[in-house]
Amino acid sequence: MNRKVYVTRTLHNSVMRALGNICEYDVNPEERLATREELINAVKNYAAIITMLNDPIDAELIAQAGPDLKLIANYGVGFNNIDVKAANERGIYVTNTPDVLTDATADTAFTLMFACARRVIEGDNIVRTGSFMWAPKYMLGYDITGRTVGVIGAGRIGTNFAVKAARGFNMKVLYYSRSSSLHIESVGAQRVGLEELLERSDFVSIHVPLTPATHHLIGAKELAKMKPDAILINTSRGPVVDEKALADALTRKVIAGAGLDVYEHEPDVEPALKTLQNVVLLPHIGTATFGTRKEMGFMVIRNIEAVFAGKEPPQMVRV
Ligand code: GLV
Ligand code: GLV
Repeated sequence: MNRKVYVTRTLHNSVMRALGNICEYDVNPEERLATREELINAVKNYAAIITMLNDPIDAELIAQAGPDLKLIANYGVGFNNIDVKAANERGIYVTNTPDVLTDATADTAFTLMFACARRVIEGDNIVRTGSFMWAPKYMLGYDITGRTVGVIGAGRIGTNFAVKAARGFNMKVLYYSRSSSLHIESVGAQRVGLEELLERSDFVSIHVPLTPATHHLIGAKELAKMKPDAILINTSRGPVVDEKALADALTRKVIAGAGLDVYEHEPDVEPALKTLQNVVLLPHIGTATFGTRKEMGFMVIRNIEAVFAGKEPPQMVRV
């Protein structure tokens, strides 16, 4: 049986070593995305592929899969880059890496929230490029402790963020979700409609997966419902927010600020956003810690091992 694995980008050394201990693999050695040709070769000739969020594994590619392909193991929790239905229809498993990246991603939402509210980037620039002087009305930002945060999506990451906000910063939590969640309500979070969440929150943090239902969930109409001193944080997927509408809302001060880790057309960013002071822009680093990226790699390997042993992979996703 063919047990060769193709890896679209090199992972942490210890992960590559562990992978080498259970199977043979080939890896795209370059500091660039795998090309379409490389992906076609991978689905045709390998038993498993380790993919990342920017590898489009669409139905057309999956239709070219060879008889050996058993698993598409996505290194990441979001799997909107993969046509899971097309894969499952051909008997190919798809897996992701939940749980191990929950803390890191929720922490990134806090990083952005604090950076926006307390003008961290602006302040750092001032210190480096000029001089500063303490003054009563100088560099004022927004309070965080005790204020209201609206959490959109009450899955693992949204709930983790809400628990930290409530326990660590005594924030009042509102949440919007398709179903109610006892876990998030255990810290006093209140389930409300999207409109009410937008109207009442001082901070809004997005934690939903990208699906047809969440595409442009936040657009001009939703931004207009937010308070003028509110701040929007997005660490989920770019297309959940209408980026042009957000740039426009920030320009016109419809809301006070935004912190983004994800974009509609990565790695491109709406040019207007880059010129604004009231937005903090991170390069999709939600899970980018040494510890988390290693754990994600080891989770991918456990899924490969299970499939090569003829078992269902533990982190299987279905649609
Ligand atoms: C990162 O964006 C992930 O989906 O894990
Ligand atoms: C500020 O630096 C203060 O001492 O209040």
